[in-house]
Amino acid sequence: MARAHRAEPLTCRVLGLLTVVAVGLAPPVAAQGAAPQAPAPPAPAVGSPAGPFRLPDLPYPETALAPVIDAETMRLHHGAHHRAYVNNLNAAVAGQPALAGQPLEALLARVSGLPKAVRDNGGGHWNHDFFWRIMAPPGTGGEPSPALRAAIERDFGSLDAFRRAFEAAGLRQFGSGWVWLILRPDGQLAVTSTPNQDNPLMDVVPEAERGTPILGNDVWEHAYYLTYRNRRGEYLQKWWDVVNWREASRRFAAAQAARR
Ligand SMILES: [Fe+2]
Repeated sequence: MARAHRAEPLTCRVLGLLTVVAVGLAPPVAAQGAAPQAPAPPAPAVGSPAGPFRLPDLPYPETALAPVIDAETMRLHHGAHHRAYVNNLNAAVAGQPALAGQPLEALLARVSGLPKAVRDNGGGHWNHDFFWRIMAPPGTGGEPSPALRAAIERDFGSLDAFRRAFEAAGLRQFGSGWVWLILRPDGQLAVTSTPNQDNPLMDVVPEAERGTPILGNDVWEHAYYLTYRNRRGEYLQKWWDVVNWREASRRFAAAQAARR
């Protein structure tokens, strides 16, 4: 199925990054446009979104994933990129109680009928919230649970074969996107990828590629470019050192229980 990609040349990415940083740090437009004599309203906290969705704290310091993911990448990725998704999502649902009062997962499950800004920014918020939690400082993420390991060996042949399939899918994803390990509704594990900020919870994703995310890696250049430049394959290989297998195992057990 053809899906829209938004491949951007590097220069656009850099400009986009600067724009996101500027948006995240700039004062509100209303304050900028106020008459000089008028008392300025109290400025909200930097990047504080006015709406139901909130930027979560990182579950570890920005420096904690180094050397696999450097601290500046973490600072920009969380503090600028993720913050912008949250702020834009809140703007997209503002004044629409039917949307603002819904859990994010419920919006993603019917996102085909919602504004594109909900798809892009709701996906961006959910994906990054998931991403921070599915990682842990090097050496602390543990191993797959016996149940998850058994399912991986059943569906991929071995843990190594699964890793190769996951890395290959991450390399194949053209332009920006995500690579996933999902538990499908039929109980099988599968490796999939999605463009932009789509994810396997969305009804815009082909049915065979929908499921509950167990692992997910961000292959947007903003996730790795400062350290790895254009070497996405090296990033995908090093990323295993910061996978939080305990959290992946917990999510796998929860997804299995939800099927029963
Ligand atoms: Fe990202």
